[in-house]
Amino acid sequence: MKKINIAIDGFSACGKSTTAKRVATALGYVYIDSGAMYRAVTLYLLDKEVDVLNQKKVVEHLDDIEIDFNLNKNSNVCETYLNGVNVEDKIRTFRVASKVSYVSTFKEVREKLVAWQRQMSLKKGVVMDGRDIGTVVLPHADIKFFMTADIEVRSERRKIELERSGKKLSLEEIKTNLQERDRIDTTRSESPLRKAAEAIEIDTTHLTFDQQVQKVIDLAEGLIHED
Ligand code: DC
Repeated sequence: MKKINIAIDGFSACGKSTTAKRVATALGYVYIDSGAMYRAVTLYLLDKEVDVLNQKKVVEHLDDIEIDFNLNKNSNVCETYLNGVNVEDKIRTFRVASKVSYVSTFKEVREKLVAWQRQMSLKKGVVMDGRDIGTVVLPHADIKFFMTADIEVRSERRKIELERSGKKLSLEEIKTNLQERDRIDTTRSESPLRKAAEAIEIDTTHLTFDQQVQKVIDLAEGLIHED
């Protein structure tokens, strides 16, 4: 059967990662969480007490950073490793979330991660989510999606997600963080978040999670089974 690459871009907290993960499992594809890579770089810098707004200082550390994904056989989920250490939980904290957009504006950071992301997609059969997948990382992806949702709904969803991992933040704090990340992600000069011309837009505001997953699977399967 033909293997395709699927690109999923969109704003923070639209359900991109969870959708991409479920789609990959349903199709037997590899899921690549490009945001996790930017988060892992940010975690490394914060742990080393590097000023994440200082591009020169950030770039000095890039050669010391290795990121891998390894399958957790118990949960059947791919987890993020930073220099050989599992950092899956640490990269999801608010400490990292509140700084990652700054780190991801730097050209050298993007070049390093984009090269890895392209390398991982060579064999096809990949579902990758992020901000620049359809526009920069995989401009020839077989199918591209762009996810959006109302800011109130996104804030609510992120709050529930954080609460599940034991973090209590007010809706206002979460909303402010999401709005700030949207602003930085869409206005940065390096690969800003944009809908690729041919991307299929999915507004998830009024969709259940199952509906949004099914929509992506149906469209992808249509392509996979096409002659
Ligand atoms: O998808 P996420 O929330 O885990 O992404 C974290 C941050 O990483 C996001 O604020 C912007 C950045 N990012 C990016 O610039 N390019 C990508 N392909 C993925 C994420």
